Amino acid sequence: MSSATGPVVDAEYVAEIERARRDLRALIASKSCAPIMLRLAWHDAGTFDKNTITGGPTIDFVPGRRDSSVAIEEGRLPDAKQGASHLREVFYRMGLTDKDIVALSGGHTLGKARPDRSGFDGAWTKDPLKFDNSYFVELLKGDSNGLLKLPTDKVLVEDTDFRRFVELYAKDEDAFFRDYAESHKKLSELGFTPS
Ligand code: HEM
Repeated sequence: MSSATGPVVDAEYVAEIERARRDLRALIASKSCAPIMLRLAWHDAGTFDKNTITGGPTIDFVPGRRDSSVAIEEGRLPDAKQGASHLREVFYRMGLTDKDIVALSGGHTLGKARPDRSGFDGAWTKDPLKFDNSYFVELLKGDSNGLLKLPTDKVLVEDTDFRRFVELYAKDEDAFFRDYAESHKKLSELGFTPS
């Protein structure tokens, strides 16, 4: 069931969600694992293909994305060694835009790469546990500062359509936060259409 303002759920459901939220906050704080949580959310949503939802009627929003009982094929997520056209191919498949690509890449303000996992090494920013606009500031400084830049990060300054957002976010952190929140919401809601 839903109302014009959103889904109608009972009090027990709301209390459960609140408990889960508290547990998650405590876990993230005690393990300093915000980076991997953000990456998990992104990888959960990032295999979505806007052209292969099943069709049929639009169904009212229910809280939470549905778990799938089957594994999606490998290779839907972006390959860090490729360029702008690959990034567009992957994100456009999800129904996202150039602005979403740049804003969401700012998620690399958190965390780091490890050689045993991806073959890449190091953090994108000087404080990988702080969510700020430093990813974009460092990106514009080029290669010389010892921080990580994946090929897919570098294309964001090489491609003129991407670059205008990099420049905006590097000088205006509020604009980054606003656009990131919007794009992340889109990412986490892929696959359902709220009525
Ligand atoms: C880490 C690639 C987009 C969040 C990584 C790593 C790679 C990568 C290679 C290092 C993995 C490792 O060695 O453990 C890419 C590519 C993207 C992309 C090619 C295409 C644009 C995103 C997006 C988000 C995100 C959209 C979230 C909004 C993260 C985070 C980490 C990470 C937080 C660090 C995880 C940790 O510290 O363990 N990404 N990524 N990435 N990515 Fe991305």
